[in-house]
Amino acid sequence: MKVNQRYYHTIWMKGSKVHMIEQNLLPFEFKIFTSRNYKETCHAIKTMIVRGAGAIGAAAGFAMAQAALEANASNYKSYLQAAKNEIDATRPTARNLFAATEKVYKAALEGKEAAITAAQQIADKDKADTKRIGELGNTLIKDGYRIETHCNAGWLAFVDHGTALAPIYLAKEAGKKVFVYVDETRPRSQGARLTAWELQNEEIPFAIIPDNAGAHLMSKGMIDMVIVGADRIARNGDTANKIGTLEKAIAAKYYGIPFYVAAPLSTFDFECLSGKDIIIEERDQEEVLYQYGISDDGKKTRILVACPNSTAINPAFDVTPAELITGIITEHGIIKPDFIEIEKLISI
Ligand code: MRU
Repeated sequence: MKVNQRYYHTIWMKGSKVHMIEQNLLPFEFKIFTSRNYKETCHAIKTMIVRGAGAIGAAAGFAMAQAALEANASNYKSYLQAAKNEIDATRPTARNLFAATEKVYKAALEGKEAAITAAQQIADKDKADTKRIGELGNTLIKDGYRIETHCNAGWLAFVDHGTALAPIYLAKEAGKKVFVYVDETRPRSQGARLTAWELQNEEIPFAIIPDNAGAHLMSKGMIDMVIVGADRIARNGDTANKIGTLEKAIAAKYYGIPFYVAAPLSTFDFECLSGKDIIIEERDQEEVLYQYGISDDGKKTRILVACPNSTAINPAFDVTPAELITGIITEHGIIKPDFIEIEKLISI
């Protein structure tokens, strides 16, 4: 993806260092954060310098490779195991994180080079899968479509391309007119900050809408389809995604609007039988009570946006039942979110 005429990945590894776009500073500042060891990469995942299912997966794989480089012969296996535990504890919901640490840990047992190769393969595959998701998803978009999306499942959430936004980028490239309604996605506002920034870069017309406006727009016939990403998909098609997704899916079903999830196979968790098995991350209440932004004179500011001394709860994801999902756009095709279709994917 190009930023200021330069091609970037969201995250990449060079030598023992991992470089990533600092997403907490966007859209006000574009900066690369460099992590020198696996602990710093853990910190980056936890504090959401890097975020989004695929990017978290790539970060976790690279962190595991960093751990392999740091470990010495005398403590090799125990160092790797401790690092894996630490990386796994950074964020609980995104499936890609656990798949990545598992794969790179196993490779690392064969040696440091094998760990680096495995981590790089995860990042490369993420890029290739999301490119394909874009191509397949584009076939669903008709000229003139007005599409609602939630959170950020664009290229910032993956190594490149994105999932929910990739079809929209390709639709535009193919000459179709598209308009995107961007849910602001409180509390961290990934829609208003990150998706809006990506769409602006891509010169795609959009409007940010308050999180509670989606159903109203649907009721007025202003939305033709919804596409969202996913953080973990259970074997029965139940899908965990950013908090607020469930409400959009319920509203879309009520108004007969197609509701698509876009996600690579690496986001499917075949050990989770249903959404009930998915662990939902609870984040700090301060994300709800405070907002970060920039004042008119360009100063970064943190302000309290709630009654002083209030408490808040902050579940980061919700689970949309499979029956509310029209289809899942994967790199292997667009499938119905049911057991039979998903079983077929397992055998790939
Ligand atoms: O908490 P985040 O920003 O890491 O949330 C993950 C997401 O980006 C969304 O839920 C997204 O729609 C899933 S696909 C990247």
